[in-house]
Amino acid sequence: MNQHDLSRTFHEIFGTAPTKPRFFFAPGRINLIGEHTDYNGGHVFPAAISFGTYAVARQRADQKLHFYSMNFPERGKIECNLADLSYNPDHDWANFPKGMIYYFIKNGYSISHGMDILFYGDIPNGAGLSSSASIEMATGVVLEGLFDLEIDRLHMIQMGQHVENQYIGVNSGIMDQFAIGKGKKDCAILLDCQTLEFHYAPVELKDHEIVIINSNKQRTLAASKYNERRAECEEALADLRTELPIGSLGELTSEKFEQYKHLITNDIHRKRAKHAVYENERTLLALQELEKGHLEAFGQLMNASHVSLRDDYEVTGAELDQIAETAWNHPGVIGARMTGAGFGGCAIAIVHQTQIEHFKEKLSETYSEEFGYPPSFYEAKISDGAKELAEEF
Ligand code: GLA
Repeated sequence: MNQHDLSRTFHEIFGTAPTKPRFFFAPGRINLIGEHTDYNGGHVFPAAISFGTYAVARQRADQKLHFYSMNFPERGKIECNLADLSYNPDHDWANFPKGMIYYFIKNGYSISHGMDILFYGDIPNGAGLSSSASIEMATGVVLEGLFDLEIDRLHMIQMGQHVENQYIGVNSGIMDQFAIGKGKKDCAILLDCQTLEFHYAPVELKDHEIVIINSNKQRTLAASKYNERRAECEEALADLRTELPIGSLGELTSEKFEQYKHLITNDIHRKRAKHAVYENERTLLALQELEKGHLEAFGQLMNASHVSLRDDYEVTGAELDQIAETAWNHPGVIGARMTGAGFGGCAIAIVHQTQIEHFKEKLSETYSEEFGYPPSFYEAKISDGAKELAEEF
């Protein structure tokens, strides 16, 4: 989407007066490894990508909020008022920006006027690339820019997480907002979700590229299954704590886990906890391998992550499994796994440049044969986090 089209649509929807709008962008994210570890106090290794959410915004003279999304034109303009920012199911997708404004005000930031905001996302919605955190963080930088606020980026990230947890009701961790808020070009972020200490690691893939594959599977009940996984891990932790003085599963080494896993009374909960513990270790190892330039070893860890998400965490599903397995058997693929929450959504594969086209053809063919519709592909670059765009971009 270019600036001209965004600007034209903004003026069509909101009219030209009184002031020129400003342009903002928040990326989506992929997670290289470290899945379902964030809310377990472990490590994650995500990166912001060049696809995301554009926001075109200006202040209004009154207290009204007018939202419009070019992705949901059938919903038209969604209107509300700064005086009532409570969650409203009729406001559909606009609850994400509304929630962000709600938390800004609740945290004492002065939002003195209403706004007209147009959104356009070039990441697929609900496909595991964090379209919701992207719209939250896009709203965050809009508010920061239009109202001249000085906001600690970590605080903005945490407000985004509050929107998900308390306003929308998905008990997600901090990974998505963090990756989108703090992303850096060509770097992944190793984040310790317990301490929030982080470290940028250059992603140098030599002759390989990251290919994102959207399974195009509708994610049904994803939020409730996500919350269920989280609850299962909490129960496993409670059992372990009857003898072990730990605050989260992320504090356990795999040796310690093996030694004490009998304390977890429920077999399913034991499998969930096993994933969380081993995935955390894999993530730390993956950083080391990447930093040493050992791409093959990095890829093996990605593959092992998928297997664990398939067998122990049970969040992959037939579609993502087929994508990963086809990738593992394809020449030039170093590693492949689902990315994000799972239950449908996207996978990523690290593929040799010379094999990308063939890989896509092959996967389209086998996948369509099995499921009756094709996957989609995105070749994303690793990019900077949420920010205001220059007047001309
Ligand atoms: C979603 C959540 C994140 C994280 C991942 C799984 O993207 O928003 O907090 O838990 O799932 O790793």
